[in-house]
Amino acid sequence: MWILTVLTACIADVPVDNAFSAAAGDVDRGRYLGEHVANCLMCHSQRDWDLLGAPNTDGVLGAGSNSTARVEAFPEGTVLWSRNITSDPETGLGEWTDGEIARAITAGLSRDGTPLFLNMPYDQFGQLSNEDLTDLVAWVRTLPPVRHEIPERVLPLPLNLVVRTMPMAPSAAATTPSSGPERGAYLANVASCVWCHSPVDSNQTVIPGKEMSGGHEWVVPNGGTVRSANLTPHATGLGGWSEQAFVARFKGLDVAAMHETRIAPGGFTTLMPWGSFAGLEEDDLRAIWAWLRTVPPVENTVVKWSPSGS
Ligand code: HEC
Ligand code: HEC
Repeated sequence: MWILTVLTACIADVPVDNAFSAAAGDVDRGRYLGEHVANCLMCHSQRDWDLLGAPNTDGVLGAGSNSTARVEAFPEGTVLWSRNITSDPETGLGEWTDGEIARAITAGLSRDGTPLFLNMPYDQFGQLSNEDLTDLVAWVRTLPPVRHEIPERVLPLPLNLVVRTMPMAPSAAATTPSSGPERGAYLANVASCVWCHSPVDSNQTVIPGKEMSGGHEWVVPNGGTVRSANLTPHATGLGGWSEQAFVARFKGLDVAAMHETRIAPGGFTTLMPWGSFAGLEEDDLRAIWAWLRTVPPVENTVVKWSPSGS
């Protein structure tokens, strides 16, 4: 029983900020952050894994049920669903206050205080500036209601105990950096570039000294393994790239064609949300590039794709 006592003591008790209001938030700015930076809809909508890049299926945006969010090697029997974040009053966030939504996004506690599992990246969103958080919540509130009940999650031991230690008080940036590498670092955190493009240990924690060197890997539904690219300035990473090539890699993408491409059985697909990030503003891509140039170079040649069984 002692372990239970210890874990109970560890529960983060982050109160709802009842003074938080998104009424003055800029919905368009919030939509940009939600759809193209923080990728809320990618995780909170169903995805079609037969198409290149696994785009969201139409019609149910925000209604949840994407069980492959942050696909990891969880213990047998684990069932985790992304939740309905539309404004439906019964199955979504319709009855939540702005403060309750903000707390879930930045501290990882559901409306009733249930700790959320960290595949909802509230550790990253906890660093959102108050201004950006306000815009984001203002936008979330505008998601048209979709009635869609999400099944309960199943967290076997020890995850059902570990999850209680996950929520954390946010460490919000005072303001959003407006340009340069500081803005790039801020965006790369919120957009999960850092988490996806860095190797992690068995606790899913980024290995110090290896940031942005790629090789973080995931098994996708067709059985293949995809690994993130090395984005450090080393020759095995983006050493030979120019800012122009980097921006063009996103802005030159034909997203519609990509999302209509049916993948061959066992063929390459990617978890890199190219479709969402193609909508990043050029200035923001330049800021991310400027920051990437400040990251220490790490030698790591990444094999981005291995088909099932190889
Ligand atoms: C990488 C995938 C991922 C991303 C990105 C993501 N979420 Fe989540 N979110 C989840 C999962 C999975 C859960 C449920 C966790 C659980 O059940 O423990 C969740 C839970 C939530 C909840 C709690 C709902 C409830 O009923 O308790 C809210 C609110 C939420 N997310 C909003 C957002 C918003 C807004 C964004 C964008 C800023 C976002 N999420 C981005 C995966 C994600
Ligand atoms: C959900 C995980 C995920 C996120 C989030 C993510 N990436 Fe990726 N990224 C990948 C994977 C996997 C690949 C390798 C497969 C591919 O090229 O699509 C990749 C490839 C890339 C490449 C191609 C490099 C090359 O050598 O061709 C670039 C550039 C890149 N990512 C930049 C970014 C930036 C910038 C961000 C944040 C704005 C980001 N990624 C966020 C998973 C991710």
